[in-house]
This record gives sequence, structure tokens and C-alpha cells, in this order.
Amino acid sequence: MEYKVRFANPAKQYADHREEFIKAFDDTLSRGAIVNKEELWKFEEDFAKFVGVQYAIGVNSGTSALDVALQAAGVGQGDEVITVAHTFIASISSIYLAGATPVLVDVGEDFNMDVRLLEKAITPKTKAIMPVHLNGRLCDMEVIMDIAKRKGLMIIEDAAQSLGASMKMADGNAKSAGSFGVAGCFSLYWAKALGGFGGSGMITTNDPAIAEKAKLMRYNGENREDRHFYYHAHNFLMDNLQAALLQVKFRYFPQWLQRRKEIAELYHQGLEGMAQVQVPRFGDPRFSDIYTNYVIRAERRDELAKFLQEQGVETMISWGIPTYKEPVFQQGEIPRLVSAGGDARELPETEKICREVLSLPMYPELTGEQVQYAIEQVRGFYAQ
Ligand SMILES: Cc1ncc(COP(=O)(O)O)c(C=O)c1O
Repeated sequence: MEYKVRFANPAKQYADHREEFIKAFDDTLSRGAIVNKEELWKFEEDFAKFVGVQYAIGVNSGTSALDVALQAAGVGQGDEVITVAHTFIASISSIYLAGATPVLVDVGEDFNMDVRLLEKAITPKTKAIMPVHLNGRLCDMEVIMDIAKRKGLMIIEDAAQSLGASMKMADGNAKSAGSFGVAGCFSLYWAKALGGFGGSGMITTNDPAIAEKAKLMRYNGENREDRHFYYHAHNFLMDNLQAALLQVKFRYFPQWLQRRKEIAELYHQGLEGMAQVQVPRFGDPRFSDIYTNYVIRAERRDELAKFLQEQGVETMISWGIPTYKEPVFQQGEIPRLVSAGGDARELPETEKICREVLSLPMYPELTGEQVQYAIEQVRGFYAQ
């Protein structure tokens, strides 16, 4: 079907900067710079600066960033890691793959970890908290940092969706996603706010020991200088060419973030105040969101999605069922779930969100007319 407003449009972004991509491709390959070369190191350096940390380690996906970060931070057998159910499965899988056990808490109205539930989830086995900064908005890191400090827990951030999101802390300074914990994990999957051509990811940290271990663990555990192997590990290295192409996009990233905020504002203005739709404006001035996804909560969500599809507006549902109801959990044990009412078999807010969320098109190449068209179709559906 011919969409009037596509959910994503990577070809448009490529076309807008085609000459620069071709130049980066040609410069890199003409020098034979294939694996672990200057392009990767420079991109890592710029990325670390942008996030406000000392080290950035390029990997081939957000999933491998989580795997390596947890293991490099020493999470393993017998440990519990607290995270949320309302996330991409990789957040939870990485905890199992490290040999540890996830504990899943419910989320609040901003789709992020309900920090009021955090202390209830802590046990003597708790080793770390994994806040997931969903949709381009930080979790309340003021509270999470305070609890982690008091309880002696590590923080490993799943910042897959939130490169550039920040929060003003009590001391008056703004801090960015990926700079709070012992490690931050980013996805640079093509559909993210900064996305490569395929999969890609990054680990950030201020801890030299974690940086060193992560660098070895992303590349078969080998120290390429002494040629010895220090860990049993995967080959998760970010391709040098991918880094060269991402660096082209990174130059435009600040202006793309600005454009995302403008588009969010158009959506807010067009949809706010409707009885059937809740927009993602949460009214706390400390937070600066980047709107990786523009997610509304909508009455009769599935009917609305179908109507929008018929009108040529492509949307997405992330996610339609809670992670703990996925088949992967039906064969074994469901993780411990912590809700406002204590331990539970279902998380009420997570369940409700899965019935109501709908992601509208959101990327910097969208025109004002396209956004207005999408808004009109949403309004039109409820006016029928
Ligand atoms: C919250 C979250 N965590 C982890 C990931 C995994 O990242 P990747 O797809 O790059 O492996 C994603 C990707 O969608 C994500 O949204």
C-alpha cells in the first residue's frame, strides 16, 4: 500500500546526505581501514564527549552492549537485577544471559520504571538496577541514584532509546542518558534517533576497568597487543565502516534532535485535550526528552491503528503484550513481578499500557504537512 506518512523513511535521510555517505565509504575503504581503525576510535571519542563520559566502546548492537556491559560490570550467577517488564526483550534477556535473575517492576504514566516500587523489589541478592529510558525520556535518575547509593547497588542503564535525553539534577546540572551508572548501553539500530545502516551499539562508562574489560569482551576476549585471550567472549565489535557512516550522521544529530522536539510539539498541540488520547507530555521541567518514539495512549487503540492504516498513516505498537506473557516465559518460570500492590502475577500499568499504546511517525525528515495530516486522521477517527 502507498503510505502518505510512513512510519520511518531511511531512504530520505540517505538521499539528503548521499554525497557525504559515499565520501565516507570511499575514504574508509580506499585506505583499507576495515576493522578496529581510526574511524571507530574517533566515533567512540566523539560519542563519549557527547554523553559526558570518559569512555565509549563500539559494539554491533544495543543487545550486545547490554550483554557485554552486564558481564564486564561483574553481574553473574546468583545476582538479581531490577528492571521493568515494559521494555524490549533484550533488556531482560541480557540479565539471563549474564547468568543472573531479573526482577521486573511496574512502570508509571511516563512509561518508565515506577521508582516508588524500587525498594520493594530489593532483596539481599540484588546486585544492580537497570533503568530503561524508554522512548527518549530518562527515568527519574535522582531517585534511582539515591536508592542505589543507599543500598550499595550498581546502575547499568539501558539507554538504547535515549541518546541525548537529559535531566536537570538537584545540583542544577543537566546529566545525559548513559552517564549515570557504571555503564550505559545504547542501540544505534537503523530506526533509532541515531541509527547506522543495520545494527550497531555503544557502551559508555567512566570506569577504566569496565572500559578495558568491555573492550576485550566485545572482541573474543583478546588483547590485540599481547595477543592473549582473557575471557570467553563473543565477537561484537562495531564495524569500522559503520562507525565512519555513523559519524556522518552524528554531525547532524543535534539539529535532528531539535527537529524531533518541534514535531513532538506539533503533535502535542494537535492532540492534547482530546478525551480519547493521552499525549506524552508529562509536565516535569527537569526532563529534556528526545522523542525517539512519539507514543500516545489511545481509546480503542486497535481500531484507531486500523483506521490510520486505511488513511495511509503507518503506525506501530510497542508492545502489544507484556514481556512476561511472551512464549519464552511459558516454558519456565515467570520472573518476580513487583506492582504497587506488592508481588503480583500481572503488572497493572504494564498491562494497561500494552492495550493503549500507539507510536505515531516520528523522524526529522517528516514535513509539517505530514504531521498535520496524521493529527487530522487521529481526530477524524474519534469524530466519526
Ligand atoms: C529498550 C531497548 N533495549 C535494548 C534494545 C536492543 O537494541 P538492538 O536492537 O540494537 O540490539 C532496544 C532496541 O530496540 C531497545 O529498544
